[in-house]
Amino acid sequence: MAQATFHFPRGFLWGAATAAHQVEGNNTNNNWWAWEQEEGRIIQGQKSGLACDWWNGRWREDFDRAAEAGHNAHRMSVEWSRIQPAPDRWDENALDRYREMMRGLTERGMTPLVTLHHFSDPLWLSEMGGWENEKVVDYFIPFVNKVVEALREYVNLWVTINEPNVLVTNAYVMGVFPPGKTDLGAMYRATVNMIRAHALAYQAIHKIQPTARVGLAFQYRGLLPSKTWSPLDRFAAGMQSRLFNDLFPEALVSGVLRLPVVSRHIPEARGTQDFLGINYYTQEYVAFNLLKAGEMFGQRSFHPQAELSETGFIANDPEGLFKALKWGMRFELPILITENGVEDSQDSLRPRYIIQHLHQVWKAVNFNFPVKGYFHWSLVDNFEWERGWTQRFGLWGLDVETQTRLTRPSADLFAEICRENGISSEMVARYAPALFESMFPN
Ligand code: GAL
Repeated sequence: MAQATFHFPRGFLWGAATAAHQVEGNNTNNNWWAWEQEEGRIIQGQKSGLACDWWNGRWREDFDRAAEAGHNAHRMSVEWSRIQPAPDRWDENALDRYREMMRGLTERGMTPLVTLHHFSDPLWLSEMGGWENEKVVDYFIPFVNKVVEALREYVNLWVTINEPNVLVTNAYVMGVFPPGKTDLGAMYRATVNMIRAHALAYQAIHKIQPTARVGLAFQYRGLLPSKTWSPLDRFAAGMQSRLFNDLFPEALVSGVLRLPVVSRHIPEARGTQDFLGINYYTQEYVAFNLLKAGEMFGQRSFHPQAELSETGFIANDPEGLFKALKWGMRFELPILITENGVEDSQDSLRPRYIIQHLHQVWKAVNFNFPVKGYFHWSLVDNFEWERGWTQRFGLWGLDVETQTRLTRPSADLFAEICRENGISSEMVARYAPALFESMFPN
């Protein structure tokens, strides 16, 4: 039997990613909590409730698990509505609690990567029109200053905004995130405001902490033509990919937001990334469809032969991660994989998914792509937005009623990878024997 180990570079960051609203519980003062109370918004009327009960202190046991499993980093977010419960009020106790969590990470030997905005907005902000209102920038910057001042002792790595491309698409085109609109004008306004908010946050963070490394986390999704010979499919796929994948990061290089018909100059955005954060889950195929005007005339679907996740949300397409990293190379920045994972309550696909995706990362690293770390989504099952609790992304499972954690084989596999800083043939033989032949041919 062939024996080998795919090694990763020294100092590679290994960890999991989480987000405040999905794990803390009782975030009653934000727009997602309000959204959950509306009928028909969340699958089966499910609610975040106590989530993973982190706000009451269960972060400790989950950080213990991560540290024991060899993670040397963790990506988490802070909840704006806790820190600034009203426009004219800061909650110092909330900031203290986050300081405690950061200390908790560093004491356990994990480097914190903190996301300042991960989908949820304070209620007072959404009542003012949220990201559509240009005033959001004037509120975001003081919030960023407050958090960075409070956490700078522990944190050097910052993500300003998580997946701005998913947020504007889901909130203003698909209507599945609050405020539930299908309005391209609103999408445009929110996009401009997010780019400005990021740019000014980048400058604000560096002013407080000159050594900080600041970026965003973009979701990169391969959007390929269904029929490569069809110019219409190529047109629709190209348009969707430009808007979803390229628009934001290119604006942060050039200072220009280039839409199909208009360009908007945002000069303060130029050169405002120290690293590129990539979230990768899957890729899709796009067919031209006249009825999909709001989606650039593209109907998306997975490859007919693709292996799908439990609820059909993700196709296991590891080569798409290599393509995402290759795409990321054009920005000439260090790259962090800020999210990657699959929903799988039975953990029947996840071990393979992890190995196959990390194999692609290893390949990229060996082509000298500057990939510096990998954060698995997620540490423990958590509240999956409009999909509620129906999707289980955790290395550890969660019984929401009893708050009991269940160790999945993937948690052990990922622990071995973190400790080894590599993937060995022996791990593949134990956790995903079906992959052995193709990964380690005799
Ligand atoms: C991402 C998001 C995460 C998580 C994940 C899995 O788009 O940033 O918060 O929900 O998808 O659905």
